[in-house]
Amino acid sequence: MKKIIAITRGDGCGPEVVNEGIKILKIVSDFTDYDFEFKDAPAGGEVWKVFGTNLPEKSFDIIKNSDALLFGAIGLPDLSPGVAESAIMKIRQGLDLYVNLRPVKLYDVLREKCPLKSEFIGKGIDITFVRENTEGLYKNIGKLGEASAEDLMLYSRDGCERIIKFAFEFAKRQDHKIVTSVDKANILNTSKLWRKIFHEISGNYSNIKTEDIYIDAFTQWLIRAPHRFQTVVTGNMFGDIISDEGAFLIGSLGMGSSGNIHPGKVSMYEPIHGSAPDIAGKGIANPIGTILSVKLMFEESFNSSEIGRNIDNAVEAALQEGRTLDIQSKSLKTLSTIEMGDLIASKLKSTLKV
Ligand code: NAI
Ligand code: MG
Repeated sequence: MKKIIAITRGDGCGPEVVNEGIKILKIVSDFTDYDFEFKDAPAGGEVWKVFGTNLPEKSFDIIKNSDALLFGAIGLPDLSPGVAESAIMKIRQGLDLYVNLRPVKLYDVLREKCPLKSEFIGKGIDITFVRENTEGLYKNIGKLGEASAEDLMLYSRDGCERIIKFAFEFAKRQDHKIVTSVDKANILNTSKLWRKIFHEISGNYSNIKTEDIYIDAFTQWLIRAPHRFQTVVTGNMFGDIISDEGAFLIGSLGMGSSGNIHPGKVSMYEPIHGSAPDIAGKGIANPIGTILSVKLMFEESFNSSEIGRNIDNAVEAALQEGRTLDIQSKSLKTLSTIEMGDLIASKLKSTLKV
C-alpha cells in the first residue's frame, strides 16, 4: 500500500520529534505491506524568515496532494505571536479539517506523573476529546476597535451535525458506552442549537448513553472524576480549553497527540505541544506525542486500528524501561529524544515481526 506522507518539521523541537515519528513509519513499512514516500512541506517561522510566508504555496500543494500530513510544531520566540503559527489555521481551514481529535490516556506506568491524587484518578484516565475545529469563535469574524471589540461565535447546523456524528461514530468504533456533550446552553444561543442537534443525532445510537454538561462544571469534573468520561464532544473554544486541561493529566505536554481530521480526506497529525524553544536543540524533547500522533494517522486515515494498537503497546512497553527527562523516573534510565524513539521502534519491531 503506497502512501504519500507530507512532512512539516517546523521550528524549535519540531524537527527533533518529527524524526522519531518518521522512524516509526519506517518500521511499519519494513514489516508490513505499507510503503511510504515522504515529501517535505516546510512551514512556520524559519520558513517565514526566508520566504516572507509561513506556508509557501508549494508546501500547501504537497500537503493537498498527500495521503496525510505529519506536523511538528511551529513558532519562534523572536517573531511576534501568530506570525509563524497562523500557518496551522490556514491548513485547518484550507483542508476543512473539522475534527480535532485529542486522546487523553494515562498509561498505568505513568500514574505517579499525573498531578491528581490517586483517589481522583480512580480506575484510570482514557478520554478522547472531539473538538469542532472550523467554526465558532475561531473563524475570525469580528472587529477590533479602541472603544469596543467583537468576535462572532457562529455555528451552522451542518457544522454541528458533522462533528457530533463523527463523535458518535468514533464512540461506536471504540466501544465507548457514553458520549458527553459540553456546552453553555443556559446562556449561549449557539449552545442551544448544539444541544438540540446533539439529542437529535443521539437518537440514532441507542446503545450509547449521553449526557450534557456545562463547560464550567465540566472543568471541575475533569479533575474530580476523569474516569467517568470516554468520548467528549464540544465546540471549538471550549474544546481548546478543556483539551489542554486534559493534556496535563497524562504526565507531560510531550505525551499529547492529536489529529486535525476530515474523514476520507487529507488529514493532519501533530503533537499538542509547541516548538518548546527552552529545550529545542538539546535532544531531550519527548517524542511520544508525535509517535502517538502517527498511531492516530493509522487509525483515522489508513483504517489500521491494529497497527495503532501495536504502536500503543510499544509505547507502553518502552515506558517501563526508559524515559525522557520530562517524565523521568529514578529507577529507570533517562533517555534522549533519539533513544526514546529507538526504544519504541525496537518494541514495535518485535511485535510486527511475529
Ligand atoms: P510549548 O508547548 O512549546 O512548551 C511549553 C512547555 O512544555 C515548555 O516548558 C516546554 O519545554 C515543554 N514541552 C513542550 N513540548 C515538550 C516535549 N515534547 N517534551 C518535553 N517537554 C516539552 O508551549 P509554549 O512555550 O507556550 O510555546 C512555544 C511556541 O510554540 C510558541 O511560539 C507557540 O505559539 C508555539 N505553539 C505551537 C503549537 C503548534 O505548532 N501546534 C502549539 C502550541 C504552541
Ligand atoms: Mg490550544
